[in-house]
Amino acid sequence: MKRPFNFGAGPAQLPEQVLRRLSVEAINWKGSGMAVAELPHRGKLFQEIIEETKLLTASLLGLPDSFEVMFMQGGARGQNAIIPMNLLNENKKCDHVVTGFWSRISASEALKYANVWVANKIPTTGLKSIQTVSEWEVRPDSSYLHLCANETVDGIEFREIPDLTAIGRGTIPLVIDASSNLFTRKINLKNVGLLYAGAQKNIGIAGLTVILLNKKIVDVESQDCLTICPSVFSYRNAFLNNSCYNTPPTLAILTTKLMLEWISEMGGVAAVGEQNEKKAKAMYDFIDNSSLYSNDVDASCRSLVNIKFFIKQSNLETNFLLGAEERGLINLKGHPSVGGIRASLYNSMPMEGVLRLLDWMSLFEKEYYYEAH
Ligand SMILES: Cc1ncc(COP(=O)(O)O)c(C=O)c1O
Repeated sequence: MKRPFNFGAGPAQLPEQVLRRLSVEAINWKGSGMAVAELPHRGKLFQEIIEETKLLTASLLGLPDSFEVMFMQGGARGQNAIIPMNLLNENKKCDHVVTGFWSRISASEALKYANVWVANKIPTTGLKSIQTVSEWEVRPDSSYLHLCANETVDGIEFREIPDLTAIGRGTIPLVIDASSNLFTRKINLKNVGLLYAGAQKNIGIAGLTVILLNKKIVDVESQDCLTICPSVFSYRNAFLNNSCYNTPPTLAILTTKLMLEWISEMGGVAAVGEQNEKKAKAMYDFIDNSSLYSNDVDASCRSLVNIKFFIKQSNLETNFLLGAEERGLINLKGHPSVGGIRASLYNSMPMEGVLRLLDWMSLFEKEYYYEAH
């Protein structure tokens, strides 16, 4: 089957090996004659799948024992609502770092439940960038500090997970939306209290949200959620019931297990990260040396997985996208809020896809731009 290269921001393409395994294993799990979607979620066969997926997550990310891996539903937007409902202290204060589209959405969702303070300033001139941590104003009595590790829409990524000790706020838990970059490279999770990611970009399909909970920092066993929080969205319930408080998305969990096994076969997160660095570098080098394309993000925080660029003559965008589609390069249109073009280079996008896109960008520049000058 001929498949296009899908540069969409998610749901993302899956590796063909994973799709093939899924098509066999999902239908007849371990010769049981049962499809995975038919297995009782508390039965031995499905419990093995959950345990293996948790172990793979922990070993690939090098998680210390203090971390619990949990699986929930409701996507990252669901997490935006349940984080305040679960993690606010009595004073109901939480701080947010706003760096783009998704972190702004997280902050506005939290406003429904919490006293929200935006701890950083967004630079208003020059290239898009993230204000340095030393300039953030984090309240000393905040329940947590929320940030988005990779702004999928804006193409802005934190190179390092911030350390708040430098500003005297080291005891405040970090809560991180890593929906678009978890498992794309090695990250230091030392200061993280809770991290969440929808699976549909780098590690599977829609319907599953992966949560990494650092029990040393966030004690969900003794802290229950607000009474208004639906029981199914209580971290405590998820934790005490091994992510089976209600029926989990069984097929989505199997898909994530297969994706994590694929990442292991590729050499693990460090190896996948190196590959992702190379793909991003090829794109940014090309854009920076071109007369037609431009990127508006400071090099210190350009995303490795969502490469946003503009065509300087924006009236050429439609032709660019049509030509790309004819070449099997699909879903490149930027998010409506920022426009332009966006190439999402998640784990499953091979270098071959990037090279094919660069070929097209180069040809387009020669044909449409130089001819017009
Ligand atoms: C960084 C980030 N956060 C949140 C979301 C929303 O995720 P979901 O649709 O799973 O709620 C997305 C989706 O693109 C995202 O990229």
